[in-house]
Amino acid sequence: MKTDIQRQYDEIIAPHYDLDPQQVTTNALGIALGQLSSAMLDRSASQPLDLLDVGIGTGVFCERLRAASRRPIRPHGLDISERMLELAKSRIPDLRAARDDAANMSRHFCDCQFDLICTHFITGFVPISVLAPEVHRRLKPGGYWSFVGGTSQGFPELRRVAQSPLIRRLHGGRELDLGGLKTPFDQSAVESVMREHSFQLRSAETFAPRLDFPNFDAFMAFAWRGAWLTPFIEQLRLHEAGKALRTFFNLWVFPISDSHRIVIALGQKPLADSLKDTHSLECEGSGRCEDNSSYDGGSYDGGSYDGGSYDSGSCDGDSYDSGSCDSGSCDSGSCDSGSCDSDSCDGD
Ligand SMILES: C[S@@+](CC[C@H](N)C(=O)[O-])C[C@H]1O[C@@H](n2cnc3c(N)ncnc32)[C@H](O)[C@@H]1O
Repeated sequence: MKTDIQRQYDEIIAPHYDLDPQQVTTNALGIALGQLSSAMLDRSASQPLDLLDVGIGTGVFCERLRAASRRPIRPHGLDISERMLELAKSRIPDLRAARDDAANMSRHFCDCQFDLICTHFITGFVPISVLAPEVHRRLKPGGYWSFVGGTSQGFPELRRVAQSPLIRRLHGGRELDLGGLKTPFDQSAVESVMREHSFQLRSAETFAPRLDFPNFDAFMAFAWRGAWLTPFIEQLRLHEAGKALRTFFNLWVFPISDSHRIVIALGQKPLADSLKDTHSLECEGSGRCEDNSSYDGGSYDGGSYDGGSYDSGSCDGDSYDSGSCDSGSCDSGSCDSGSCDSDSCDGD
């Protein structure tokens, strides 16, 4: 049984994701790439860069990173959506991929410590406070955390419209939660979490792209199929709007101009922080990533988390039944690159 988020990505968003109608994702990832270029990509080194992209989506960042980097890249990706991972794998043939909740990061690629972990546009689903300690644990000393994520300061005009009597009436008079997501409040909230988890902040900025929705269809391409507000659209059942309702919206609600607020930050794990984390890894391994594996984990069974009700940050044995990788820990015996293939670790 899929969660709502999995269904939305598999069935609605995946085929449209790369269209990126207002280029917000493309431009935000470009800024993240710029931060990384000055910090680490320009350095030539023959040693490959071990990358983990959490919520990798269609793999577009990984592809851009590889094109920009003078170092060879060993790519690893974790995502909850089967279809998004398929697209990522077709774009990056040597991708080691695992399908699971990002909160279960410690169960995967157990033989690996990373030079770079990306969490891009994932903190709407898994809170930054859950990701931060996991990212810290999985980075090599001196490794980087590239963060990109929307904040609850985004879409001020859409928030105002969502509270209008007209839209609330569509929702049976009830209060609407635009997005229902777990985004950080603003840039200083992201910076605080990074510092609390002993990252050194190397770079941070807020990107505030302008958004123009000339009509209902343009809004839906961005907000529903484009992933920005898919849960909200479904809450209001706007995707089922017939011709009359769409005409009504075009007359009374659109055009709308708005903006987003996206934090793009780069943290670095201090060199001195190494030992305590290496010892606390749930799935301890050598720390060196094998480069010949095609692990397709798929240990997620979708039982408990639908994006709207995230509360624990860790998944217990009741909600994740993953064959040989169950019970919340994946030791190096059952889940290393040699033995955790799609046959032994697929919860389906
Ligand atoms: C907005 S997309 C971002 C994709 C990519 N990082 C990018 O910047 O283009 C969010 C991705 O996170 C995945 N996702 C959503 N909830 C997740 C979760 N709880 N654990 C892992 N991945 C999740 C979705 O399937 C989707 O691929």
